[in-house]
Amino acid sequence: MPEDPLLEIAIRSSNSLTEEEAREAEILDKLAYVEEDGDDCDDGIQWIEESNWDILGWVDGKLVSHVILSKHVIRVGSQSLTIAGVGGVATHPAWRRLGFAGRLLKAAEDLMRSEGCYDFGMLFCDTEMIPYYSRNGYTLVHNPLFIMQRGQRVPFDDNELVLPISGKLWPEGVVDIPGSPW
Ligand SMILES: CC(C)(COP(=O)(O)OP(=O)(O)OC[C@H]1O[C@@H](n2cnc3c(N)ncnc32)[C@H](O)[C@@H]1OP(=O)(O)O)[C@@H](O)C(=O)NCCC(=O)NCCS
Repeated sequence: MPEDPLLEIAIRSSNSLTEEEAREAEILDKLAYVEEDGDDCDDGIQWIEESNWDILGWVDGKLVSHVILSKHVIRVGSQSLTIAGVGGVATHPAWRRLGFAGRLLKAAEDLMRSEGCYDFGMLFCDTEMIPYYSRNGYTLVHNPLFIMQRGQRVPFDDNELVLPISGKLWPEGVVDIPGSPW
């Protein structure tokens, strides 16, 4: 591995990925999440199946890092907010701790700001990852959280972190996501 590998970042609408790119992204995501946990990460949660944007990081033509963004209108307390859901944050095990995921998160943030429609970025993560996302601008919030699963509104017990984009303050109250999480 070169000392200072050149990471090429591409932002693509998800429906513009070629079959080969989508396959590569799927392989990377499986590798990243299986490698970390030692299992296939089947947590019983139905996650979203389609994203709006893929942030792709390539070294020498090989996909090594990946983030997806999906657009959601959610309810928080009495407000309706447009959210960029950040998910699938993954770097190939051989290319970690080089700042790649951090650079893709920054590219995702730049996209959220340039699109002009988002109030917040929002992600869910394990407790051990909270410091990492905090360093990347996200703030832990503690609103009661509900998602839809198999047609039912159910509580979702995960850490919620948000990134202010439009200048609104994060509201108090129950968070209702009208679909699967991301
Ligand atoms: C998390 C992940 C995307 C980071 O990718 P990366 O390109 O190495 O990220 P960066 O170089 O920007 O940052 C590396 C930092 O991430 C943090 N980090 C990574 N994995 C971590 C873990 N399991 N626990 C706590 N912090 C972790 C650390 O702060 C690390 O820096 P350090 O090792 O110097 O302390 C990568 O480790 C991965 O794919 N993990 C498996 C999938 C996953 O857990 N994704 C996040 C789901 S919320």
